[in-house]
Amino acid sequence: MIEYRNLRVALLGAGSVGAQVASLLLEHGDELANRAGAGLELVGVAVRDLDAPRTANIPRELLTTDAESLILGADIVIELMGGLEPARTYILQALTSGADVITGNKALLATHGPELFELAEQVGAQLYYEAAVAGAIPIIRPLRDSLAGDRIKRILGIVNGTTNFILDRMDTAGESLEVALATATELGYAEKSDPSADIEGFDAAQKTAILASLAFHTTVPLDAVYREGITAITIEQVDAARKAGYVIKLLAICERMTDADGVEGVSARVYPALVPRSHPLAAVHGAKNAVFIEAEAAGDLMFYGAGAGGIETASAVLGDLVSAARRHVIGGPGVAESTHANLPILPISRVITRYQITLSVVDQPGVLAAVATLFSEHGVSVETVTQSVQAGADPARPSATLVIGTHEASEADLAATVAALETSQVVRAVTSVLRVEGS
Ligand code: NDP
Ligand code: HSE
Repeated sequence: MIEYRNLRVALLGAGSVGAQVASLLLEHGDELANRAGAGLELVGVAVRDLDAPRTANIPRELLTTDAESLILGADIVIELMGGLEPARTYILQALTSGADVITGNKALLATHGPELFELAEQVGAQLYYEAAVAGAIPIIRPLRDSLAGDRIKRILGIVNGTTNFILDRMDTAGESLEVALATATELGYAEKSDPSADIEGFDAAQKTAILASLAFHTTVPLDAVYREGITAITIEQVDAARKAGYVIKLLAICERMTDADGVEGVSARVYPALVPRSHPLAAVHGAKNAVFIEAEAAGDLMFYGAGAGGIETASAVLGDLVSAARRHVIGGPGVAESTHANLPILPISRVITRYQITLSVVDQPGVLAAVATLFSEHGVSVETVTQSVQAGADPARPSATLVIGTHEASEADLAATVAALETSQVVRAVTSVLRVEGS
């Protein structure tokens, strides 16, 4: 039996996610209230256009274009409008008025997170954001609560469904990036007007900033996240990766590492990388997301599921709603974001990882030795070399393909090696440079 007063819930946005949140809240309100220990009354839904078609039935009298009035009377505000403004202003208003806030807005958190968390702490409110990373997958609460007693060493995440879908189609169906992107757009995964947020890695970078900040108790600003998208990935690279026992995935990598000078810090980066087929992330197909965590005590953990979708993401939002309601019932201030470690953030040049470099070389005696010398001169240790005769090569100018796998090396040393290879007499072209992760 619920004794606590009804909590007033204001919803900002009734698009893909917001409409599903409204619908589930109206449909399952009693059940959620029992779990929360308080009634949950949806007092209004702010939208831009009252007459726009909705994907769920929301009573017309709940819709309003006056978000500010709605916020003022609410105990809990759910922001699902997206974008930086007016979402930022509305969340600041909600926190200032004493409401707890729930958001799925990764762009806003990655850009203005510190300002929002600071205000929440000042006023004793709580900002929840389970939906902001990997949609339906519970990852924020596990990092923040369940793993609070452990030390995270590394996170490897597939956190963008569009790019995983595209790379998977290239790998399993032999499609070009352009064809796979067109299918992703048709299926509604990629943004129709501008897919660059997905394919250039911006969306993944926002999620990486959020994950790295949480995992390492350190504020990691968005502009400290190194980012490369998938637009330069070719079907030849995907095929070569498969033959070598790898699959190419766009990875969000958050790592606590010690650089070559002994500086301990945090690296946050997004790029397409070779992942061994035996790694659990290699089995993440289609538009699915997964987050693989390596923790000191817990060992390896993997969280897998839908990274997007209206109803799937609504599940994460409603989980936050129940938590927020419970906090109201129990009372006391919200729990502040932990940034106590404040570790330095290492630039990409300090990162240490493994690489696979593919070269087209002159096929004649001494070439392998010359190439190996260039690696050793720049302090990069070669682990594997495979050579094949280049198909269709001119018999008068024989060429070979060399695929060189390295031991761990710094980005700076690797970049210097690649620059030397590019100007070497024996190298016709550096055709591919990919990092190897997850082994
Ligand atoms: P949509 O674009 O589908 O919906 C946005 C909603 O916000 C619309 O109802 C729109 O109103 C309303 N809105 C926008 N601007 C204003 C404004 N100025 N005043 C009032 N209402 C406004 O977004 P999504 O539902 O896809 O995403 C919402 C949030 O959730 C984003 O931050 C997104 O990053 C995040 N998210 C989304 C996922 C997904 O699968 N879609 C997955 C994980 C997170 P109107 O309908 O009248 O135009
Ligand atoms: N565009 C995102 C994706 C949606 O493809 O994963 C979820 O953030």
